[in-house]
Amino acid sequence: MRIGVDYYPEHWDRSLWIPDANLMKKTGVKVVRIGEFAWSRMEPEEGRFTFEWLDEIIEIFAERGIDVVLCTPTSCPPLWLYEAFPEAVQTGRDGRKIATGIRGHRCYNNRDFLRYARRIIDRMTARYGQNPAVIAWQIDNELEANFCFCETCIGEFRKWLKEKYGTIDAINRAYGNNVWSGEYSSWDQILPPYGSYPHAWLNPSFMLDFNRYASDNMIQYVKMQTEIIRKNSPGRQVTTNVWFCENMPDFYRTFEGLDFVSYDNYPTTKIPADPEECYSHGFHLDLMRGIKQQNFWIMEELSGGKGCWAPMSEMPQPGMIKGYSLQALAHGADTVVHFRWRSAVSGAEMFWHGLLDHSNVPGRRFLEFEDLCATAETLDAIDGTEIISDIAILYSSDNEYSFKIQPQTRGMYYMEQLQRFHQAFTNHGKNVDIIDHHASFASYRILVVPQMYITDPDTVARLHRFAAEGGIVILTNRSGVKDENNKCIMEQLPTVYRDMTGAYVEEYNPIGDGTVSLKFADGEACTGRQWCDILCAQTAEPVVFYDSRFYQGKPAVTVNAYEKGTVYYVGTVGEQKLYNRLAKDALTRANVPFLDGLPAHVEVTTRSGNGREIQFIFNNCEQEQRFELDGTEIVMEPFEMKIRN
Ligand code: GAL
Repeated sequence: MRIGVDYYPEHWDRSLWIPDANLMKKTGVKVVRIGEFAWSRMEPEEGRFTFEWLDEIIEIFAERGIDVVLCTPTSCPPLWLYEAFPEAVQTGRDGRKIATGIRGHRCYNNRDFLRYARRIIDRMTARYGQNPAVIAWQIDNELEANFCFCETCIGEFRKWLKEKYGTIDAINRAYGNNVWSGEYSSWDQILPPYGSYPHAWLNPSFMLDFNRYASDNMIQYVKMQTEIIRKNSPGRQVTTNVWFCENMPDFYRTFEGLDFVSYDNYPTTKIPADPEECYSHGFHLDLMRGIKQQNFWIMEELSGGKGCWAPMSEMPQPGMIKGYSLQALAHGADTVVHFRWRSAVSGAEMFWHGLLDHSNVPGRRFLEFEDLCATAETLDAIDGTEIISDIAILYSSDNEYSFKIQPQTRGMYYMEQLQRFHQAFTNHGKNVDIIDHHASFASYRILVVPQMYITDPDTVARLHRFAAEGGIVILTNRSGVKDENNKCIMEQLPTVYRDMTGAYVEEYNPIGDGTVSLKFADGEACTGRQWCDILCAQTAEPVVFYDSRFYQGKPAVTVNAYEKGTVYYVGTVGEQKLYNRLAKDALTRANVPFLDGLPAHVEVTTRSGNGREIQFIFNNCEQEQRFELDGTEIVMEPFEMKIRN
């Protein structure tokens, strides 16, 4: 395991560079990431390149054996570029150029911006592409599938539609544009979703395609950068750092041409008071590992209190700096780079705290980081190990977009049921993969398929095959609702999955922030929220019933034998205990060994390889916990990680 830091030499007086690098080396830092916002320091005016400072700092790290991840600085083009080419800044939903700010607001399609971006990337990669200290490249920073409304982007959107559909008639059919006289008769009538018009009035089929286009457009920008880097820096790894942003790209396609996934990991510093809230980043980490189904990096890891964009958060509690980093390791991160070495003294982010405070005096958090680095030095056995899972949860960006486009009921969001199932399986000591629905299902025993709202016929066929051959499939409410174009399917829900579930939805009730009483077949009570699919079980066995409202006594959850396999259908959204019970039931049916009786928030995962299994036990809460595991009493401090061979 390697620990690194994000460093901004351009923020600091040169006199600090060597002491900083010395302290990094002494502390055990193995890798630094630099450069992602420093374009104005590399090209202070058009065509005048000043890389000497970068040569110097790379050399300082190289002399100390610290590896460098260099970033392309295209997230913040210098102001001279915007001055010369005002069109390079994005156009907002109101059709007007957004105010020229500081970062992240360049238009991915603007020809002038792209010309300068290509040139700076080419210069950088030509200069450092073969430098032995530079081990990897990060493209830009936290790219989003931005919506830009400039003429060029509108043209690109129309081009994307032409390639997908060929004719205007085909678009009209795909979107069902006969509603509200929405039929296009020329390409010029196709406009992006401007802000002043209520988005809820726009056709959801059109909106889904607009989101898909925005993602593809961002990916094209990633490809452009990747090609230049690969040409000048063959043999070096290429990545980009992602997070769960507002305009999420399709992560699977984003990383298709890249070497590894890197994720910016900022778990909460304040543990929620509500015991029902899912806050563990174990879920996010598994989703990141699942993108390429291989180990990944944390490119930015929590190091201090967060602030700037919102008022400051609480400082990480004792144990969090080390515990959260090791949690990332337990879920497949091999390198964890902390954001940032020292808190900035200027700029908008001066209160997004680093490992060192403004005073530059190592404090509690830094000492814990030192301890983390020392622990990392002892973890060589983990190199080359990976996470192997019997269970996979399917995630799809089409579903993500569609639920944002049409929120189904108050309080419902796509990730929730994925997270609840994830927590349930992790709390039974199971590794969980979160994967693309296009990925192979061959190595799994249990597939959790929450809210398969948008239907991809190939996935439907493969899920049928998986169950028929003996697998366990767990489907939930809002599955089979829409076709690939985000139009409703004219069949009884869950439509394409109905034969597998052996039950159908007689009627549904979106109860939003209301509740419904539930009762397991053995009489245990539970509470449901958000949504009630009132089920009619045909061949399926009801295992949970509604216990209030006008459908009291009707099934809420069913289990069906489908050929050699089993299919669950979960018609409501329950308390965590619903998911815990279902996970245990599915594991028992699948004959997969699991741990029973772990306290809430204890997460047990396993990495294996080189003929060994390494177990990670993480106490992801602020209480000490005592419990029995394999006949021994385990006592865990808050946020403590135990690693056992
Ligand atoms: C990340 C971003 C960093 C920094 C950090 C703290 O999302 O990549 O550049 O802004 O958040 O706000």
